[in-house]
Amino acid sequence: MQKPIYFVLIAVSLFAVAITAVPQTLSLYSGSHEFVSGTNVDCAKCHSDVHTEMLALNNSVLAAHKRAALNVNYTTYLAIGGVDYDPAVGNITTNMDGDNSGSNDTWEWNSSTQMWVRDNDSKSYQMDLDANENDIVEYNELCRLCHQTTPITESGHASTRRFCDDDRCHGNSDYNYTDSELFTNDVTSKVSIGKVLSSATVHDMFYLNASTQATSRIIGEIPAFGYTPGGTVDSSVSKSYMACVGCHSETNATLQTTNMHYLHEDPNAEKQRYSCINGTITIG
Ligand code: HEC
Ligand code: HEC
Ligand code: HEC
Repeated sequence: MQKPIYFVLIAVSLFAVAITAVPQTLSLYSGSHEFVSGTNVDCAKCHSDVHTEMLALNNSVLAAHKRAALNVNYTTYLAIGGVDYDPAVGNITTNMDGDNSGSNDTWEWNSSTQMWVRDNDSKSYQMDLDANENDIVEYNELCRLCHQTTPITESGHASTRRFCDDDRCHGNSDYNYTDSELFTNDVTSKVSIGKVLSSATVHDMFYLNASTQATSRIIGEIPAFGYTPGGTVDSSVSKSYMACVGCHSETNATLQTTNMHYLHEDPNAEKQRYSCINGTITIG
């Protein structure tokens, strides 16, 4: 009589394993048939380290970038390679001929369709980073402000980067294309930092020296608009942005100067600003 009871027990325990195992298997594959477009890709899904770093921040720099990312006129301007915005006419001019019409593209605002329209081929476009349309740019949506993939098409994985002194962000010694009229607050000083640091300020030497040194990153990592972007050395992105992150982030910027510094023990030493000293700085 004992044999059948033993068999039933085994059957029950096998069933118990089966019911606990099934929901796990199901959850592993749940959502696998919901496809998302490039605009809805959740960058934080894989880059949780970067996402966590940003979540740990609660400062004005992050808030400023979120505000910029919510401004669709600015994000569109970034994506189409704008060089000027005229709020009176409602158009953005560029220095690229994207539709091969023989003249540079101009995009005009169409208030009935709420889209920007290219002059020659009437292509409609708007770069909206608020993918879930809740009027807030969350951290995972913010990634695309700086890692926007391909201008206009929104496809592909984000291998491009906008460095701090990008032509259309904070500018550099070559180009300073962010039109402050895109913003309601006066951001003139904030969008021309690279330009300012390229002229005589106390830290110009730090920035300018870094501008002449190449990183291992190629120009292709910066969105291209038919011309060689500023802040580059030969075919590489320059180290100039390291001056920005050196001061504005927790990133370590290793500097080695070969300057003669002001000799603090010598009362007769010639007085000079650091920017007047003709030395070199190596940045690692
Ligand atoms: C399904 C996972 C996945 C998602 C989602 C994802 N990435 Fe990545 N990403 C990767 C992997 C893996 C690498 C590393 C590739 C390598 O090392 O060659 C990478 C690399 C990168 C790099 C560095 C490229 C380089 O050359 O160093 C950037 C920048 C980046 N991702 C940004 C983003 C952004 C922005 C998003 C959202 C639009 C995103 N990723 C979404 C998996 C993902
Ligand atoms: C304000 C601009 C900005 C924002 C916002 C931003 N990044 Fe970056 N990111 C950069 C820049 C610039 C670099 C290149 C740094 C370098 O290579 O020295 C970079 C590098 C990276 C890299 C490659 C380096 C690494 O650490 O592996 C990844 C991956 C990456 N970012 C993912 C993301 C993700 C995911 C988000 C959103 C959660 C994000 N970034 C938001 C500017 C930004
Ligand atoms: C030597 C350190 C240093 C370097 C290099 C540096 N900054 Fe700053 N930055 C500061 C300090 C300090 C302030 C605050 C100045 C103030 O409050 O008047 C500031 C202010 C700012 C502001 C706010 C300006 C405003 O008007 O409110 C922005 C934006 C900014 N920096 C961006 C950048 C960018 C982009 C770069 C690189 C091109 C850069 N900074 C390089 C130290 C630095």
